[in-house]
Amino acid sequence: MIRMDNVSLRYDSRRDVLTNIALDIPQGSFRFLTGPSGAGKTSLLKLIFLAHRPSGGRVTLMGQDTTQLSRKKLALMRRQIGVVFQDFRLIEHLSVYDNVTLPLRIAGQRPSSWHDNAVELLNWVGLGDRLSALPATLSGGEKQRVAIARAVMTRPKIIIADEPTGNVDPEMGERLVRLLVELNKMGTTIVIATHDKLLWENFEFPRLHLEDGQLTELGAA
Ligand SMILES: Nc1ncnc2c1ncn2[C@@H]1O[C@H](COP(=O)(O)OP(=O)(O)OP(=O)(O)O)[C@@H](O)[C@H]1O
Ligand SMILES: [Mg+2]
Repeated sequence: MIRMDNVSLRYDSRRDVLTNIALDIPQGSFRFLTGPSGAGKTSLLKLIFLAHRPSGGRVTLMGQDTTQLSRKKLALMRRQIGVVFQDFRLIEHLSVYDNVTLPLRIAGQRPSSWHDNAVELLNWVGLGDRLSALPATLSGGEKQRVAIARAVMTRPKIIIADEPTGNVDPEMGERLVRLLVELNKMGTTIVIATHDKLLWENFEFPRLHLEDGQLTELGAA
C-alpha cells in the first residue's frame, strides 16, 4: 500500500533528513512511527501524503509510482489519504461540525448521506456538545479530536496521523487510537507517528523507528 525505495529527503543542501529509506507497508496494516524529536517522522509522513517529493528514490502508493503521476492524479490520490496534522490545521471560521464535514461537502456528497455519521463520530470523540463551537474556543485536546474526526470522516484508504494523542490525557489517547484500530479492522491502512510509549506498548502493532536518518523495523512491543 505504501512503499519507499531508496528514498532520501533534504530540505537544504547541508544534510539529508532521511537517507535511503526502504519501507513496505501492506494494505490493511497498522504501524507506529517512533523516534526522537527532529528524527524526521513528520517529514516521512509528508512524503507519504504527497506534501513533499523525495530528493531521491521512489514513493509508491496503492501500487502507483508517485514520481510518474501528473498533478491532477496526485490530487486524486491525496483524497484517499486522511491526515491528522501535528498542528491540527483546522479552519478557524468554521464550526467543529463544519470542519469535520467539509471534505464530504467538497466531494459533493449530500448532507443526508453523512449527517448522522458525523454526529455519531463527534459524540464518540466526546465533542457532541461542541458541534457549533469555533476552533479558537477549543482546548488543544479538543482541536486534536476535531482533526481526527475530520481525517476519518471520508473513510480514506490510508490514514496518516502525526502525534494524534499529543494533547489529550492517556484515557482519551487510548480511545482515539481505538477508533483508528476499528477503522483498521475494516481495512484502512494506518500509520501513527508518536512519542507515546504507552501507545505502542498497549497496542500490539509493529513499529517503524527513525533515528539519524535511518529507518528500522521493529516488531510489536
Ligand atoms: N520545511 C523545512 N525546512 C527545513 N528543515 C526542515 C523543514 N521541516 C523539517 N525540517 C528539519 O528536518 C528535521 C526533521 O524534522 P521533522 O519535523 O520531520 O521531525 P520529527 O521527527 O517530526 O520531530 P518531532 O518529534 O519534534 O515532531 C529537523 O531537523 C527539522 O529541523
Ligand atoms: Mg513531527
